This record gives sequence, C-alpha cells and structure tokens, in this order.
Amino acid sequence: MAKEPRANAQPPVRPSRSRARDGVALDLQTQGNPPTAMDIAGLRKRSVIFEALSDEEASALMQMARKIVHPAKHTVFREGEPGDHLLVVLEGRVKVSLVSPDGKEAILSILEEGDLFGEMALLDGEPRSATVTTMEKCTFLVLWRRDFLPFLERNPQVALKLLAALSKRLRATNDMVGGLSFLNLPARLARILINLGQQYGKLTGEGIAIGIKLSQEELGNLVGVSRESVNRQIRQWVEMEVLDYTHGTIVLKNSDVLFRESLNMER
Ligand code: CMP
Repeated sequence: MAKEPRANAQPPVRPSRSRARDGVALDLQTQGNPPTAMDIAGLRKRSVIFEALSDEEASALMQMARKIVHPAKHTVFREGEPGDHLLVVLEGRVKVSLVSPDGKEAILSILEEGDLFGEMALLDGEPRSATVTTMEKCTFLVLWRRDFLPFLERNPQVALKLLAALSKRLRATNDMVGGLSFLNLPARLARILINLGQQYGKLTGEGIAIGIKLSQEELGNLVGVSRESVNRQIRQWVEMEVLDYTHGTIVLKNSDVLFRESLNMER
C-alpha cells in the first residue's frame, strides 16, 4: 500500500492549523464541514461514485467525507505534490493543467459538477499528475485514501464505474493527442468549440452561447497554440459571422462551418 502523505490542498472553509506550501494553515479533515442531505441528493444524480450506491451506502460514504470551499482562480493542488485524497466537484468548475517550468500552461480538461479529480495519486500513491485550479468559486467533497480504498473493496460496482470514468478520460486525452498530431489549428479550435458548445452550450436567438468564459490565452492552452494564433483565427471567424467573442463569452453562430473546419486534416 502506498505511504500516506499528509493532506496538502489549500484553504478550507474555516481557518485551520497545519501548514500548506503557501503558508496558509490547513487541516482538511478537521476543518471541512460535513456534507448535507442536499449534497448527497445532488451527487446521487451526477457522480459516478455515488450513482451506483444505495441510500444507506451513500450516507455511509458521506460520513467519511468533508466539504470545502475555494475561491475562483485558486490552486487546489500542484503537479508533483503528494496526495492522499480525491475531490468531487459539488459546485463550480476547475481546470486540470500541466505547467511548464517557464509558466506555459496546457489545459488537459475542464471538470464540472459531479466530476471527480485527484483519484490518480490516491490510487497509485504517486505524486499529483497535474495542477488543478478553480475557474470560479467551487465547493468540493473530499474523500481520503484510507477510507476510499476499503470502500472500493466493499463496493466493486463503484470500482467498475470509476474504471469506466477513467477510460472515458483516457479517450478524451487520446482525442486531444490525436488532434495535436494530425490536425491544423482551425480544425483543433473548431473541435474544442464544438465540444464546449455540446457540454456548456445554451441555444439562444444568436446561436449556441457557451456558458463558460474562456480567455483567448485559455483557448490557446486548450488547443496547444499561442494566444496570438487563437486571436487571428477567432477574428477571422468573427468577420465571417461563424461566432461572436466578447470578453471571454463565445456564441457559436454557424456550427456548420465549424463542423466542416473540424474535419480538415491538412496541417
Ligand atoms: P492526480 O494525479 O491525483 O492529480 C491531478 C488530477 O488531474 C489527476 O489525479 C486526475 O484526477 C486529473 N487528471 C490528470 N490527467 C487528466 C486528464 N488527461 N484528463 C482529465 N483529468 C486528468
């Protein structure tokens, strides 16, 4: 069994005692709040861990969990840190990224309500594989290795759901790697925009409004190109009335053009 490093995520709801790397005191296990019945109800619909459980099993798991809140743009943890807990998003969105020594960011994924993260270090005992940052104010449920692993052994149906969720994540990462290797910038950007539209889009009179604000730099970090290259492509599409982009808010006005672009294999 992997050794148990001390919890080192950042500030919970109330001030705490032990020290984190940024000097902010914390002790998630004593300082987080217990989750409520409403939290359980929400997770029963959205989380792969909870949807496979009976009411009794879900309550038993919740008793081992704590609820914490982080503000927007907060680093939940950094790649390379030890980690003995996973987090489930109760409210808000986070980005999972890799950051180069000179500060460049590659966004691997954006996670939302019901999604979990931090399971890799919990399961294999290795350091955190990526950095996770809140995109808005977030509430998380925290579960610790020492509780979660025995729980998985008692509930193999949850382990199977977790494996399916991890497979889905690997597929998405394969898609991203394939895109980086085989597609040109317009095709990659078009694919990301279509995905964002499917995940976060709302149909409005103008088109599909993506309910998540992304700077051109963040779009570049999702696609693997510079902010300037994204800016050129977005301006071209704005002129062609394919989309609108105002202060990070994107409205897809002509998805047909984006679909066509997304199939363009020329690099
Ligand atoms: P862990 O390695 O503990 O900490 C970083 C977390 O980011 C990791 O667990 C996963 O939950 C998540 N993560 C890592 N790589 C990816 C990826 N390619 N796609 C989505 N999430 C990821």
